[in-house]
Amino acid sequence: SVNDEATGQQPAAPYDSAFLKACRREPVPHTPVWFMRQAGRSLPEYRKVREGTAMLESCMRPDLVTEITLQPVRRHGVDAAIYFSDIVVPLKAIGVDLDIKPGVGPVVERPIRSRADLARLRDLTPDDVAYVTEAIGMLTGELGATPLIGFAGAPFTLASYLVEGGPSRNHEHTKALMYGDPELWADLLDRLAEITAAFLKVQIEAGASAVQLFDSWVGALAPADYRRSVLPASRKVFDAVASYGVPRIHFGVGTGELLGILGEAGADVVGVDWRVPLDEAARRVGPGKALQGNLDPAVLFAPREAVEAKTDEVLAAAAGLDGHVFNLGHGVLPTTDPDALTRLVEYVHTRTAV
Ligand code: CP3
Repeated sequence: SVNDEATGQQPAAPYDSAFLKACRREPVPHTPVWFMRQAGRSLPEYRKVREGTAMLESCMRPDLVTEITLQPVRRHGVDAAIYFSDIVVPLKAIGVDLDIKPGVGPVVERPIRSRADLARLRDLTPDDVAYVTEAIGMLTGELGATPLIGFAGAPFTLASYLVEGGPSRNHEHTKALMYGDPELWADLLDRLAEITAAFLKVQIEAGASAVQLFDSWVGALAPADYRRSVLPASRKVFDAVASYGVPRIHFGVGTGELLGILGEAGADVVGVDWRVPLDEAARRVGPGKALQGNLDPAVLFAPREAVEAKTDEVLAAAAGLDGHVFNLGHGVLPTTDPDALTRLVEYVHTRTAV
C-alpha cells in the first residue's frame, strides 16, 4: 500500500499494521490515520459507482461494497479500511420496514414504541447478512496487510432511529420511552445489544481486524442517564466480542461529559470528537485505553496552512498518549475536497514518522 512505500516497511499482515499496533498501545512507525465516512459522497468515484443504485441496495451488493470500501484506501493511502455499510443494515436484515432517504438518513415506517412493536425485532443470524460475509471475504483478499474495520450502531443510537422513526434533533420520543417505561426501554436496548453483537461477530468471523461501535447520539444524554439506561447495553455488546481479541473502538459525538463512563463500557479505544483536546480526554477516559481522533471535519474547508496548524495541535495534545489513532472528530462532510484528505494523511504520516 501507499503507507508501506512511505515508511519503507512491509507489514506482512494486518496484525503488524500501524493501525492495529496503535489500538493495542504498541510502538508505531507513524501515527495511523483513517477517517469516519472516508467512503462516500466526498469521492467522485463513489458518486459514479452509486449512480442509479439506492443506498441500502448498494450495501447488499458485495461487488459494490468491495469497490466502495477500497476507494479511499487507494486514493488517500489511509491505514485502515472501514466496511461500507450503514448502521441500519442489520435492522433491515431482520425485516424492519426502513429505508435510507437521500439527504435525510434512515426512516422507519412503523416506529417501535410499544411491547408489541418490540416483538418485531427478531434475532439476527449469519444467513440474514450472507452478503456481508461474502463482501468481507472479497475485501480481505484485496486489502492484503491493510486492516478492515467492521462496525455497528450502538443500542442507543439504533433505538433513537427506531423509536423516533427517523433522524431527530431532540430525541423526544426516545427519551419519553426511556423515562416513561424503563422496563420496556431496558428490554429494547438489550434486544438491540444482541442484534448488534451478532452483527459484529459475523464481521469478525468473516475477517474484520477491528470493530467500531457508533454510539453517535449519546451526547444527548446526561451522565447519570447514560449510566443507568444505556451503559449496560453497550457493555453487553463489547463483552460479547471480547474473546475474539480484535480491538474494539467506541465512538460518540458530544461526549465530553461522558468520556469517563464510555471508558467503563469496555472498549480498547475511545473515539473523541473535536470539543475536548486529546490530553484532557485521556485524563477523563482513564488509563489502559488508546484514543482516536480528533480533528474537526470542518477544518478541512480552511486553507492548507490552517489545516496543518490545527493538525499540529491535535498531534501535540496526542504526544503523551498511550496509543493514538488519528481521525476526524466525526465523519467526513460530503462537500470536503478529497485532495485535502489525501494531504492530511501524508502530513500526519510525515510529522509522526520515527
Ligand atoms: O465510514 C464509512 O466510510 C463507512 C460507511 C458508513 C455509512 N454510514 C455510509 C453512509 C458508516 C460508518 C455509517 C454509519 C452511520 N449511519 C452512522 C454513525 C456514524 C455517524 O456519522 O455518527 C449514522 C448515525 C448513520 C445513519 C445515516 N445513514 C445518516 C445520518 C445518513 C446520511 C443521510 C444523508 O444522506 O445525508 C446515512 C446514509 C449514509 N450512510 C450515506 C453513506 C455514505 C449517504 C447516502 C448516500 O451516499 O447516498
